[in-house]
This record gives sequence, structure tokens and C-alpha cells, in this order.
Amino acid sequence: MSKKNEIVKERIPRHIAIIMDGNGRWAKKQGLARMFGHKQGVTTVHNITEAAAEIGIEYLTLYAFSTENWNRPKEEVDALMALLVDTIAKETPTLMKNNVRLLTIGDINRLPQATREKFLGCIEQTSTNTGLNLVLALSYSSRWEMIEATKRIAAEVQNGTMSIDDINEATISNHLTTNGIPDPDLLIRTSGELRISNFLLWQIAYSELYFTDKLWPEFTVDDLYEAIIDYQHRERRFGKTSEQLKVES
Ligand code: FPP
Repeated sequence: MSKKNEIVKERIPRHIAIIMDGNGRWAKKQGLARMFGHKQGVTTVHNITEAAAEIGIEYLTLYAFSTENWNRPKEEVDALMALLVDTIAKETPTLMKNNVRLLTIGDINRLPQATREKFLGCIEQTSTNTGLNLVLALSYSSRWEMIEATKRIAAEVQNGTMSIDDINEATISNHLTTNGIPDPDLLIRTSGELRISNFLLWQIAYSELYFTDKLWPEFTVDDLYEAIIDYQHRERRFGKTSEQLKVES
């Protein structure tokens, strides 16, 4: 039986972020080339996105391509870019059907023109959808976005539109590429690696972390439900004590 019935509808995480890892290892286990793993990974993206939309998640952020991934062999980078274009072309009708709005975070100016244009077209087409916000991190890394934010804040101080004393948490948040997106409640990483890999470092300050040994191509909708159920059993204290939380509720 599906674990879906065990999810408490009143405590659905508003924002789930996922480090999709293990495509290459999955392919190797089957004796296949790495790209087969990425292709199978797209099927998982499709299934998890549909399930997230269906249960009422507001934001799903997927780490699709990091700044560091540009250092992979050129053939793999080119094939991944082509896969992204192909996926967007094929999946846009599904996004429309499920009322999903596509957003991206990251340095999309680094993407090849064809890839960038495909994303911009899909972002435009889905812009009035009101269900799940699917946020794809593309050419993204936290340190990159923190450097960009720092430069823009420094420029505003320099030209007199901001005073140093006015810089606070909101200033930093508003200058990151995730501006307007709530911080993740739950961060999932697949494939057994216990790392954050330069992903949403500012934004996950109070996120619950969930690691699974499942490789991304074998991560199922039931695995997503299991992560949500695990999250729902945790006490989020945000630095307070359990006793304080009980008094407040
Ligand atoms: C990590 O596996 C995965 C990636 C770097 C790319 C993720 C891309 C996809 C799932 C396909 C496209 C996605 C979308 C959103 C359409 P890895 O290659 O690092 O695996 P390994 O650690 O086993 O080598």
C-alpha cells in the first residue's frame, strides 16, 4: 500500500529541495553509459514533480546542474544540455496539465543559447500557472550567488541607495537568485552522500535534512512520501526550546 495515506495533510512542507544524485552510479550498476542514468533520472523528475503537485507542495527545487558540473567531460556536458532541451520540449504539456509554474535559479547566461531559450519559453508559457512552483537550479552554486549578491549590495552602498547599517538578513535574502522563494522546509539528498555540495547554503539554515541511499533513478514517489512522513515527525525548534514551542502552540 502507498505511504501517501500516512501523510498529515495539515503539515505538508511548503518547500522541498532535492539534490538529485547517483545517476552515473545507477547507469554503471546496469553496465550502461552515464547518460542512460541521466535519462532515467528525467523519468524520476517527471514522477516526483507530478506527485509533489498532487499533494500540494508549493515549491520543489531540483539541483539539475551545478556551477561545478561545467568541469565534467565536454561530451557529458553537451549531452546533458541536449537532454534538458529535449525534456523541456516533451514535458511542457505535462507542466501545463498539472498547473505547474517553471522557474530557474542560477547563472542561466552560461547555458548554451538553445538551452537558455527553451527554458525562457517554458518559463513564459507556464508563468500564469498557480499550482506547484518547479524551481530548477541550473548552473547554480551557493558561493556563486553569494558573490553576486555581495557585489550588488556593495554597488548599492557605493552609489548611496543603501546604507551599511540597513543591511540585515532580508537584504541578503532579497539579493540571492531565490529572492521571493521561501526557504526550504526539507532538503533531500539521494545516493548516500552526506554533503550539501554548494546548494542553497544560506537558505537551508533551518531546513530539515533527509539522506537516502537510493540512487536518483530508483527514487520513487513512495520514497518522497517517506521523506515527508519523516519530516512530519521532527520538531522544528528554530533555536527555541521544546517547552517554549509547547506554550506557543
Ligand atoms: C547527479 O548524478 C545528477 C546530475 C548532475 C544531473 C541531474 C540531471 C538530471 C536528473 C536530468 C535532467 C534534469 C531535469 C530537471 C530535466 P551524477 O551524475 O553526479 O551521478 P554519480 O554521482 O553517480 O556520478
